[in-house]
Amino acid sequence: MSAPVIKKGLTIPQLTARKGKEPIVSLTAYTTPMTKHLAPHVDFLLVGDSLGMVLYGMESTLGVTLEMMIQHGRAVMRGAGDTLVIVDMPFGTYEESPQVAYRNAVKIMKETGAAAIKLEGGVPMAETIEFLVKRGIPVLAHIGLMPQAVNVAGGFRSHGRTDEEAEEIMADAKAIEEAGAFAVVVEGTVEPLARHVTESIGIPTIGIGASPACDGQILVTEDMLGVFNDFQPKFVKRYADFTQEIAKAVSTYADDVRARRFPGLEHCFGVKNDK
Ligand code: KIV
Repeated sequence: MSAPVIKKGLTIPQLTARKGKEPIVSLTAYTTPMTKHLAPHVDFLLVGDSLGMVLYGMESTLGVTLEMMIQHGRAVMRGAGDTLVIVDMPFGTYEESPQVAYRNAVKIMKETGAAAIKLEGGVPMAETIEFLVKRGIPVLAHIGLMPQAVNVAGGFRSHGRTDEEAEEIMADAKAIEEAGAFAVVVEGTVEPLARHVTESIGIPTIGIGASPACDGQILVTEDMLGVFNDFQPKFVKRYADFTQEIAKAVSTYADDVRARRFPGLEHCFGVKNDK
């Protein structure tokens, strides 16, 4: 087991300055204990609205509310120490107007203490991104496969396969850079296009199902740890299989209880040598 790399947290400008340099490492986080495991190893943590699917069993992220994001944002902030934390804005809390986005982004930042927000959308969100950034809200953008637009896209599928889609994604990338986003998540986008986007803009691209050429990578933690099994996208690399570990531990516990092997007297109060 390698020792954790204890590091001081990145600021937003430092993260942007990593463009084309050492790859940016990121994972999602939703709870305090897991955040404590992750924070020493990553450059930033994202409280993603993927929590709707990964923690709450929803079929998509559309049902996630602002309150859920704030509660989980607060939980992550309690465990993050110096590590940069970014919170996702959920579906329906920013699309209507820059003013609505501003109000809800401020609420997230005030009530969680997180340093920045993430929102999905390219060209159609550029005006909102500019409005937020000019008022002190750092924005991580998100283009390509946008899970909140799953119904428009017709499912969770890779993007950028047609010339029309590729042009749209490139235009999205340029628009959000111009609007002042400090970085952009590029999700579920064909590799050559994700590479081309990375080479064409001046802010870091954070890939997920995109390209090794991206300036950083992010995965949903429960996917890479092998905890979430509802479906496994092609782009997930499993670094552990906690499903098997959990099954082993829980079935051993069940066997122990049924056989009265657990609890032992060492787990009880009021017996000899009790402390
Ligand atoms: O919600 C999320 O976890 C995300 C990441 C997968 C980028 O948006």
